[in-house]
Amino acid sequence: MAAPGKAEQEVLDRRFMAAALRLSRRNAGRTSTNPSVGTIIVRDDGAGPMIVGTGVTAIGGRPHAETEALAEAGELARGATAYVTLEPCAHHGRTPPCANALVNAGVARVVGAASDPDPRVSGKGYAILRAAGIEVVEKVLAAEAAEQMAGYLIRSLKKRPEVILKLALSADGKLGRHGAGQVAITGDIARREVYLMRAEADGILVGIGTALEDDPALTVRLPGLENRSPARIVLDRQIRLPETSKLVSGIDRVPLYIAACLEADPLRRSVLERVGVRFIGTETHEGGVALPELLEDLSALGMASVLVEGGAKVASAFLAEGLVDRIVLFQGPDGIGEEGIASPIDANHIPAGFRKLREMRFGEDGYAEWVRDI
Ligand SMILES: NC(=O)c1ccc[n+]([C@@H]2O[C@H](COP(=O)([O-])OP(=O)(O)OC[C@H]3O[C@@H](n4cnc5c(N)ncnc54)[C@H](OP(=O)(O)O)[C@@H]3O)[C@@H](O)[C@H]2O)c1
Repeated sequence: MAAPGKAEQEVLDRRFMAAALRLSRRNAGRTSTNPSVGTIIVRDDGAGPMIVGTGVTAIGGRPHAETEALAEAGELARGATAYVTLEPCAHHGRTPPCANALVNAGVARVVGAASDPDPRVSGKGYAILRAAGIEVVEKVLAAEAAEQMAGYLIRSLKKRPEVILKLALSADGKLGRHGAGQVAITGDIARREVYLMRAEADGILVGIGTALEDDPALTVRLPGLENRSPARIVLDRQIRLPETSKLVSGIDRVPLYIAACLEADPLRRSVLERVGVRFIGTETHEGGVALPELLEDLSALGMASVLVEGGAKVASAFLAEGLVDRIVLFQGPDGIGEEGIASPIDANHIPAGFRKLREMRFGEDGYAEWVRDI
C-alpha cells in the first residue's frame, strides 16, 4: 500500500487524535495536579496503520501517558507516529522528560493537540523532538483537547481552578422554594449525570444557604464510583453549619472545607475541627467570602476544577465576578411558581463570551452546556 497523501494523512491524524482524546478521559479527575493525557502509538508497515501502544496518565499523575504507551509498543515504536493530547513534558521531575523518552524510542513523527502553558514545558517539549529530527505536527484537534483539559490549562494560566457552574432550573426558571428544603427539579437520569460530573471534579462548592436549606451530602452515589467523591467546600463566614448535617457526618469518607471569616466564633470552629472539618481562612469582600482569593487557596490545595452547585446567591456572586468558565444548566419539565427562588441565569440569558458546547436530554430533563475561551 502506498504512503498516504497529505490530505489522507490529515484525516488519519484527526482520527487517531480523536481516539487519543477519548482514551484520555479514562482517568479524568484522578490524576492529581496533572491533566489526564492520552497517547496512542501507530505504525504502518505498508498494510495500513496499526495501533501498537496506548497509554493514559496513571492515577495520581505518574507515570505519564507517553511512558505507558512506549512501554507497551516496545521496539515497535521505532519509526512510528505518537499521538499525544498534550505537548510532551520537557522538564526533569520525578521521571525523565517524555520528550526525551519519545526521542530515545526512535519515533519518527509526533502529532500533538494542546500546547502546555507550563513555562517549564511550553514549546520546549516540541523543540526537543524537532532537534532530534522528529517530524512534529501541532494543534491537531487543539480546541477539543483544550476543552477536555480545561482544568489543567486554567490552573496553569490563571492560578485558580476551572469553575463549572451547575444549576437545575424548573420549567419556569426557578431553583427551589425557600423553606421547602431540597425540591426535586430533575429526574433520576439527570441526577446520575450530576454524579458523573462530580466524579470528574476536584471540588464541589455550595453556599451555607443551600447547606442549611437542603442538608445535601454532595457525594457521588453511583454504583462503583462511590469512592470518587471530591472534597466539599461550603462558603460559611459565620460557621453556621451544624455538626449534625450530612456534610459533616460524611467527613470520614470525603473531606469537607469551610471558608469562614477569621473572626468567626472560635468555639464553633474547634467543635467542627475536632470532627475533621478543615477551615480555609477567608478574606471578606462586600459582605461575602472573597472569591478570587478563595479560588487561589483551592488551587494551592491542588484543585484544578470546582463544581459550583449553588445556591442562587453563590451562583450570582461567581457570575458577577466573571469567575465562571463553564455553565451547565439542567431544566426539569415542571414549574415551581411565583414564590420560587429565581435563578440568576437561564438559557436565554447567558453572559457574553460564552458559546454553547452541547445540548442533550436526560429522560424528561433538558441539558445545555456553555464554555468561554480560556
Ligand atoms: N436548583 C438548584 O440547582 C439549586 C442548587 C443549590 C441550591 N438551590 C436552592 O437554593 C436555595 C439556597 O440559595 P441561597 O441563595 O439562599 O443560598 P446560597 O447561595 O446557597 O448561600 C448563600 C450564603 O453563602 C454565604 N456566602 C459567603 N460568601 C459568599 C459569597 N461570596 N457570595 C454569596 N454567598 C456567600 C452567605 O452566608 P454568610 O454570610 O453567612 O457566609 C450567603 O448568605 C435553597 O432553597 C436550595 O434548595 C437550588
